[in-house]
Amino acid sequence: MRKRTGTKLSIVGAGAVGTSLAYAALIRGAASEVALMDINEKKVHAEALDLAHGSQFLPPARIDGSSDVAVTEASDIVVIAAGAKQKPGETRMDLAEKTVDLMKKIVPGLVEQSPEAVFILVTNPVDVVTQAVVKISELPDGRVFGSGTVLDSSRLRYLVAQECDIAMSNVHAYICGEHGDSEIPLWSTSTIGGVPLSQWEEQTGQLSLARRSEITERVVGAAYEVIEGKGATNYAIGLAGTRIIQAVLRNEHSILPVSSMLHDWHGISDVCMSVPQIVGRSGVVKALELPVSAQELVGLQNSAEHIRSVAASLGF
Ligand code: 2OP
Repeated sequence: MRKRTGTKLSIVGAGAVGTSLAYAALIRGAASEVALMDINEKKVHAEALDLAHGSQFLPPARIDGSSDVAVTEASDIVVIAAGAKQKPGETRMDLAEKTVDLMKKIVPGLVEQSPEAVFILVTNPVDVVTQAVVKISELPDGRVFGSGTVLDSSRLRYLVAQECDIAMSNVHAYICGEHGDSEIPLWSTSTIGGVPLSQWEEQTGQLSLARRSEITERVVGAAYEVIEGKGATNYAIGLAGTRIIQAVLRNEHSILPVSSMLHDWHGISDVCMSVPQIVGRSGVVKALELPVSAQELVGLQNSAEHIRSVAASLGF
């Protein structure tokens, strides 16, 4: 076998999320090796084969699929996309016990195969699961984090961009807190082309308080809307996950609202939840000291309490 010189991404869980992530990562050329792992050998073999058959049209990458954990050996990044599936009407928190139980079973073996890897959780409820995996894995906590509200922030930016008819790349706005029903937008620091939203509203009449709360509701309800219609969300999370993977493998020090263990972020500690974080080759490098309004802080504290109580009920 040829000596490995590139970067290896392993994706655990070959369902809708894991395979969309693999597809997006391959198209982007995010890693030179992509390994898919799933307990269903027939399915994971077929998914890897289907992706490999498109190799001619992709940046070069080796693609493997197996139910054997050894396929993930010596990964630079391990993405865990396996977990309970959210059914219409269920909240992400309803999945906590099942997904955390699965993590107890699979995480030690994955860490054994790739003790130096960055571990990224892309499974729900992502904050509670990340908190459990930080403890189960016994890895330094910056090396274990969740996709958090990167996707929700993209949903927010999409809606604001549409509302104002401005390119999404010029909208800077974060959803933070739980990746779930208690998440909140950080409007006070949001800007469009460098213009704070309060000024934007004065200048254009767009994004009034009432309109902002409608946008917030649409972001919070977005996954429910998609799950109701097609049974799962997969493409957007595949792209959001790939964005995070690239930030790590290219040591970008990009600011992304991922979910990781907080240490006195505006007084919030000992909970995994999303705030803007600097992400690089070692994982989460540090949380950004972004100013928040008093009202936003209360929302974030409520979110933290909610995550903490579910995590504690499962022994984490
Ligand atoms: C999403 O937000 C369900 O967490 C998933 O798309």
